Amino acid sequence: MKVPYVAHILAMVVMVTPGLHHRRNETNQLNEMPCSLMDYAMRSQCLQVEQELICKGGITREWLNGIRLDIFHLRMMEWPGLCINAGKIQHFFPELRTLELINSSTLRFFKGHFGATSKIEKVVIHGCPSLWEVPSVLIDRMPELRILDLRGNGIRHMKDSLLSKPPKLQQVHLSGNQWDCSDGGLDWLAMKEDNSTVKKRITDYKILTCHQKLYRGKPLHVIMDIIRTMHLTCPRPCECEMTHVVSDTAGLIIPLITVNCSGRKLDSPPLALPPSVTTLRLEDNKISSIRSIVQNPQYKKLADLYLDNNSIPTVKELEGSEWFTTFRVLSLKGNMLKQIPVYAFDKAFQVNNNIMHVYLGHNPWRCDCHFIPRFQGLLLKYKRVIGDLPDIRCSKSNDKKTSLVQISTMPLGNVCSSEMEMPISTINIVNLVLLGLILLVLGRFLYDWRNFKTTGKLPWLSSILP
Ligand SMILES: *[C@@H]1O[C@H](CO)[C@@H](O)[C@H](O)[C@H]1NC(C)=O
Ligand SMILES: *[C@@H]1O[C@H](CO)[C@@H](O)[C@H](O)[C@H]1NC(C)=O
Ligand SMILES: *[C@@H]1O[C@H](CO)[C@@H](O)[C@H](O)[C@H]1NC(C)=O
Ligand SMILES: *[C@@H]1O[C@H](CO)[C@@H](O)[C@H](O)[C@H]1NC(C)=O
Repeated sequence: MKVPYVAHILAMVVMVTPGLHHRRNETNQLNEMPCSLMDYAMRSQCLQVEQELICKGGITREWLNGIRLDIFHLRMMEWPGLCINAGKIQHFFPELRTLELINSSTLRFFKGHFGATSKIEKVVIHGCPSLWEVPSVLIDRMPELRILDLRGNGIRHMKDSLLSKPPKLQQVHLSGNQWDCSDGGLDWLAMKEDNSTVKKRITDYKILTCHQKLYRGKPLHVIMDIIRTMHLTCPRPCECEMTHVVSDTAGLIIPLITVNCSGRKLDSPPLALPPSVTTLRLEDNKISSIRSIVQNPQYKKLADLYLDNNSIPTVKELEGSEWFTTFRVLSLKGNMLKQIPVYAFDKAFQVNNNIMHVYLGHNPWRCDCHFIPRFQGLLLKYKRVIGDLPDIRCSKSNDKKTSLVQISTMPLGNVCSSEMEMPISTINIVNLVLLGLILLVLGRFLYDWRNFKTTGKLPWLSSILP
């Protein structure tokens, strides 16, 4: 079962991030390309309007014959190549104040970077859907850059340095891109204070939208706030991850957070959890009681709780707890459970509408006639939710009839054999004795009555009574 499931998930991941890995490798190869401004000279058109040069489909050869000190504004439209050589632009047009790159469906990366002699104050890149990232090295040495307008491209990620390094940068426009809020690539932005320089530079921060995977269509600033709260409230030494977000009927965004405390050598569960944690993983620790989980109000909303491979000897605390009637997944595999309060489990499972999976395998279950018939009844009644029936076995013992035997399929005779050998149980013996006595009394009465009718003699008992 496990293998196809994992494969299925992986297939989905590949589907939602088309060619991500492929793409990274390709970029390395593309960096080797010469990426000359001359490449499309033959099919291009250029037009000079005073100090502005407007080129379409490339740059014509006449503009690349020598250094042009008379051009202050360069607008390149529909560049047909995969890359643009920033170093060469600076070389041929050293006096540029404004650079615009518009509508290139093929542009993916830049070769070289703008240097410390650049006079460019404004960079505009629009309409480039294949541009996934603008590396900070491209602009971080530009001493005069004030406005960076990157609206309407395919940008998914950016680094802190893109916005923090250019010394005079004032305004950055980032809307209309394909921001990927789900892979941690923007967590640095989430952790910035609202009044931080970098955040204030993004003029359209409040209207940015997440586009990839789980957060598609969700406002970026809301997701960033949630990520920030999650990181700030994540209990040490655990890891917290937002696995999903949903919107409620009022449009409010609710994050679904997983806290992973697996294998952290914990001897008790964390005291505090981030708001809206749905899954808590506590596998492979040294936890010996679930009391604090059941009693801590912070755990009330928890849906999935994994406690595999701990040292929990009893779960009687679950009895009567509110959490037990609302949880979705509870895994107690590999603990020290000998028995459970069967009646309380049955009662809670009946009213719990969320319940999906319960795991109880690899525990040293006590196999006797007192516990097993009821426990087996519970396992069979809820076999749809008990996820590991074959692993729920009696503890190892010298008794061949029970040692490591699967409980759900075990004949009850294996544990209740001592009572089965005696054909009539004690209570029935008492009943039989009583029946005999009743028959005796009835018989005596009939005999006396018949005797009185025929001889007129009162029974012996009435003859001695006064
Ligand atoms: C890129 O792909 C080649 C094979 O085409 C492979 O040998 C190389 O390791 C890959 N490089 C990276 C960085 O993934
Ligand atoms: C870029 O393309 C869009 C949509 O095709 C078009 O509306 C816009 O005018 C183009 N911009 C320039 C400067 O050509
Ligand atoms: C939880 O953390 C542990 C230890 O870092 C790691 O091995 C495990 O893969 C994580 N589990 C999940 C579901 O992320
Ligand atoms: C629990 O321990 C068993 C045996 O050591 C191991 O096979 C299993 O993978 C562990 N389970 C988890 C969830 O770590």
